[in-house]
Amino acid sequence: MVLQICKYGEKVLREKSIPVAAVTEELRTLASDMLETMRKARGVGLAAQQIGRTESMCVIEIPEGCEEDEDALFNAPVAMPLKLFNPEIIAKEGSQRDKEGCLSFPGVGGSVTRAEQVTCQYLDENNRHQIITARGFLARALQHEIDHLNGVLYVDHLSAVERLSFSSKLKKLAKANGGVR
Ligand code: CO
Repeated sequence: MVLQICKYGEKVLREKSIPVAAVTEELRTLASDMLETMRKARGVGLAAQQIGRTESMCVIEIPEGCEEDEDALFNAPVAMPLKLFNPEIIAKEGSQRDKEGCLSFPGVGGSVTRAEQVTCQYLDENNRHQIITARGFLARALQHEIDHLNGVLYVDHLSAVERLSFSSKLKKLAKANGGVR
């Protein structure tokens, strides 16, 4: 089922998620619906807050060909799509700067500095503890989605100059969706 995506301005995007005690059938269905919603919107990641929920869960799917060859090789052990419950970044290394967008910010995209490599622990949909290490685009997606789960949005990471250049767009978007910045 395709769900409605919450846009910048909606209060839920600033809410912190609550860890799930266990992955239930209901949450597995929700993760599948989130994946379907994300694919339809042509996104590479979606977090619970973006569909109005506050469980600590997100989905990620990097389409083939989107990564640099070296990163694709490094990330090969990580099977797509990812359905992550209670994900946490436990190690970070290096830095990368690239353009980033978000399905909750239609028409706005800016450059964000993130760690080049991250190690993430989470619960998979079968309630097994997993640890993955990712680089490049996938590492960026993990950081972006886990930020969502903490009520942090990618615009929070924009430089002052870039934030200023998007300021009227962001103001308009927030105003149209409830006004919470
Ligand atoms: Co996002």
